[in-house]
Amino acid sequence: MISRINSETRLYVLIGDPVEHSFSPLMHNAAFQFCGINSVYLTLQVKSDGLGDAIKGIKSMGISGLNVTIPHKVSIMKYLDEIDSNAKNIGAVNTVINKDGRLIGYNTDGAGALASLKRGKGDPAGKKVVLLGAGGAARAISFSIAPFASRLVVLNRTRSKATSLVKAIKKRINIDIVGEELTINTLSRELADTELLINTTSVGMFPKIDETLVDRHLIKPNMVVFDIIYNPPETRLLREATASGAKALNGINMLVNQGALSFKLWINLEPPIDVMLRAINRGLRGG
Ligand code: ATR
Repeated sequence: MISRINSETRLYVLIGDPVEHSFSPLMHNAAFQFCGINSVYLTLQVKSDGLGDAIKGIKSMGISGLNVTIPHKVSIMKYLDEIDSNAKNIGAVNTVINKDGRLIGYNTDGAGALASLKRGKGDPAGKKVVLLGAGGAARAISFSIAPFASRLVVLNRTRSKATSLVKAIKKRINIDIVGEELTINTLSRELADTELLINTTSVGMFPKIDETLVDRHLIKPNMVVFDIIYNPPETRLLREATASGAKALNGINMLVNQGALSFKLWINLEPPIDVMLRAINRGLRGG
């Protein structure tokens, strides 16, 4: 709980639909409290057709900052006064600062993923990376790792989405990159010489926790396997990666790091990452 709410308390919110299962309030309120910042973070459910009104309200009420989640990450862009170049490249915004009435959009998902890869000894620098999926999370992550990886292979169920993501990256970053349909053949061919596998799809997420896209025999002991899912903390993919001798990284650190980067944009202070991580872990345990 925030110890003192008064007339100077500043408000930060997460807008999306649904928002009721989000862990972001736990992590941000813990960080505010730890740093002695007189602010609170709440979730506000905003339906798709209410986004324009919500933005007007945010400006007129002087809400200090936002996180943005499904389904508004793309549609919010047209309401913002300014969008930073990384969020423009990605084509989605997850963080907004209210700077004297001007709303400025950022995307911390990709940088959060990169930070957690580095922290988890899965630095993509100089590595061939196979990335599963081509949705919003895949876009953010691939733009962040493309400048460092030696080769990036995007495999997606819908091939056209993989190829359009690859085209967007090629336009801006000079990297060896290909996009293909996700099939047993493309997976087994590409994983044969890959050191880093990243799953950005929702396959394996609660409640369908027995699903995986990757046959366990394709996972080698020299691989780092990063699954951006955090619920459950150990997906079937990660369980099988560990059993195969590979290094498994889950989405909890990415969640914390993207949140920490939002916190830094809003407050301009070094975020207390360990405090935020403990808050998330407590939430995941149901505490
Ligand atoms: P997010 O913003 O979280 O990335 P998204 O934009 O809806 O969410 O993207 C979901 C990704 O998971 C997509 O790449 C999707 O593949 P399609 O582009 O073919 O839809 C992938 N995905 C979801 N369910 C899948 C499944 N059962 N098998 C394979 N890929 C799946």
